[in-house]
Amino acid sequence: MSATRATGRTGRRTVRARAAARGTARAQTTARTAEALPTAMKAAAIERFGPPSVLTLHELPVPSVGPTEVLIAVHTAGVGYWDARIRDGSWAEGPVRFPLVLGTDGAGFVVAKGARVRRLRIRDRVWAYAYMNPKGGFYAEYVAVGERGAARVPAGLDLLQAGASAVTGLTALQGIDDVLGVRRGETVLVFGASGAVGTLALQFARRRKARVIGTASGANAAALVRRLGADEVVDARTDEDVERLRSLAPEGLDAVLALAGGERLERCLSLVRAGGRVAWPNGVEPEPRRRRGVVMRAYDGAAGPREFARLGRAVAEARLRVPITNVFPLVEAAEAHARIEEGHVLGRVALRIRSRR
Ligand SMILES: NC(=O)c1ccc[n+]([C@@H]2O[C@H](COP(=O)([O-])OP(=O)(O)OC[C@H]3O[C@@H](n4cnc5c(N)ncnc54)[C@H](OP(=O)(O)O)[C@@H]3O)[C@@H](O)[C@H]2O)c1
Repeated sequence: MSATRATGRTGRRTVRARAAARGTARAQTTARTAEALPTAMKAAAIERFGPPSVLTLHELPVPSVGPTEVLIAVHTAGVGYWDARIRDGSWAEGPVRFPLVLGTDGAGFVVAKGARVRRLRIRDRVWAYAYMNPKGGFYAEYVAVGERGAARVPAGLDLLQAGASAVTGLTALQGIDDVLGVRRGETVLVFGASGAVGTLALQFARRRKARVIGTASGANAAALVRRLGADEVVDARTDEDVERLRSLAPEGLDAVLALAGGERLERCLSLVRAGGRVAWPNGVEPEPRRRRGVVMRAYDGAAGPREFARLGRAVAEARLRVPITNVFPLVEAAEAHARIEEGHVLGRVALRIRSRR
């Protein structure tokens, strides 16, 4: 996704060949820096595809900063379902350069910037998103990303929350506002409302004054989804609750954001009214089946200055809460992946890399 690539199907293509072109901090002849930077850093990386145990701590060069890039001292990195698919190789194509530092998003401080960087300053607190970043991922003490893939953290989020919500926030907001165009009074189903994208999407839909129905399985997930503002919660993993959904939306669903695929989703989609809309981020598998009379669109969360500015406003409007189910230190990145593989994650899993706020 450079700054704007998919965390999903279309993103898989980019796994090829674009991994890890790394230099050292010493190469930054044109960059401005906050302080003398180390030349080496700790990073959680893989030497080959495989189970969570292949993700281990490495000592690697601090990435160099290109003219349009910033170097971020990472405070928190988000951990996502797609990271696990990159780690096990199922979303990878073509040759990948190892060691491969995982992690698509996070938050921290700008400690160096390229000569052509204008928007961001040294010491800014930033959040960032870069899929298969050529300079390496966010499971590291430092990451170099294009300026367009980073923005100042909005008031209302600390670095832990921001690091756990950059890609999921962009994806949730763009699904609700841009792809579905949710409007006041509409009945919207967030399918997978207790997960990383869903917990944010339901809050963005509420902010549009829609009536939000969220799916969640189990008492804890249902309680979370209700606490975050869902008007109704159904357990999409039970037949009875899918029937209950019919009674909750007797005139049909206006819009559905699908964050998981399969037969349960298909049953819910049969309740979408004629002319209704269904959206899902690429990566949802199996992909929802096309339906006559329903507008159906797959999309990718995109990063850029405009996208982050809009997300910052939406965070304030929604008074966004970012549920984080587990926080692991960098050295336990493999455990974080094992947690993702267990499933039933309520909100996001994160890696805490630095303690400074
Ligand atoms: N293309 C992009 O830009 C982009 C960006 C972000 C995410 N994504 C994709 O979006 C999807 C969601 O991401 P996420 O991070 O929110 O995932 P997540 O945290 O794992 O959440 C998935 C949600 O779906 C539910 N779910 C899973 N399987 C289900 C099933 N068979 N029936 C009913 N509910 C089910 C889960 O509930 P349970 O607790 O019951 O399992 C959970 O609430 C992933 O496929 C990811 O790859 C794509």
